[in-house]
Amino acid sequence: MEYQIALVPGDGIGPEVVAEAVKVLKRVGEVYGHTFRFETVLAGGAAIDATGECLPTETLAKCKTADAVLLGAVGGPKWDELPGEKRPEKALLGLRKGLGLYANLRPAMIFPELSEASPLKPSVLGGGLDILIVRELTGGIYFGKHETFRNADGQTSARDVEEYSEKEILRIGRTAFSMAEKRDHHVTSVDKANVLDTSRLWRKTMTALAEEYPDVTLDHMYVDNASMQLIRDPKHFDVIVTSNMFGDILSDEASQITGSIGMLPSASLADGNFGMYEPVHGSAPDIAGKNLANPIATILSVAMLLRYTLNLSKEADRVEAAVKEFLHEGYRTADIAGGNTEALGTVETGDKITALIR
Ligand code: IPM
Ligand code: MG
Repeated sequence: MEYQIALVPGDGIGPEVVAEAVKVLKRVGEVYGHTFRFETVLAGGAAIDATGECLPTETLAKCKTADAVLLGAVGGPKWDELPGEKRPEKALLGLRKGLGLYANLRPAMIFPELSEASPLKPSVLGGGLDILIVRELTGGIYFGKHETFRNADGQTSARDVEEYSEKEILRIGRTAFSMAEKRDHHVTSVDKANVLDTSRLWRKTMTALAEEYPDVTLDHMYVDNASMQLIRDPKHFDVIVTSNMFGDILSDEASQITGSIGMLPSASLADGNFGMYEPVHGSAPDIAGKNLANPIATILSVAMLLRYTLNLSKEADRVEAAVKEFLHEGYRTADIAGGNTEALGTVETGDKITALIR
């Protein structure tokens, strides 16, 4: 089969890690007889520099016609002074909305070889961690009306509106429940239903939806409690489903618990099979261009792309197995080396993992 992949390398370490993931994908193509065609498009700071806009219309158009999108990272200090509407991060929001990517999957798992890296005690981790955060990605306060205005007292005021429809809650709920069916059959829905109307609707809708999934257990947690339970008793969680903003915050917390953010992939899915895949980490401008970045999160994002968009689960398993072998053989990148000066660079890591796909 032939597949069209749009590449959005972006800024900072983005281009370096995407290059390694592309190497891996090409290797998968050779071994399993698929052809991947790549088209590189601009977004974020790179696009601002080249065109004046963070998300040129051509980028969105090319992403739409591709089978899937692979993104590195956007943003950096160079563009930090720009106003909100013009910042590189706005490109991410534009891609999510423009491509209908409402379901964001952020797995937080600990690789046994790296369990030392977690800031949590082994007694709390109980031998591992495997949580899937399902974050609603195209609604809620990030996409509500934002305004700064002068109020009746002449004070400058600002407001951001949080809004969710039943339909939006149901579709992200369905994603979470069907993921749980393939995992440990447990969904925790996180909200702030003791205060917010959007959360009360969220809770009521998830409760009703649960009846369609009798083999999945649903529980509810307030977001403040959830942020506490994630470090007190992370084993409680299998799938967490939550709104855009709560998911943004909790997924950062969960990634830190694994101790190796350089290892975590993510998928943003639309209806059907289309998806955009990217590492959870950002553009890390401090180490950009130094061959220091860990490309594994992007390589594992490629595994998610193979699994969720292209339905190539054998190939996805192979990529994940190659990463495990790499770690098992004792290879490390600087971020996970624990002071070991023998750490491999970005390119060498990509080469080793590619070679392990046979
Ligand atoms: C993320 C990021 C983005 C978000 C920013 C860069 C807009 O923090 O993907 O989690 O808030 O969604
Ligand atoms: Mg975030």
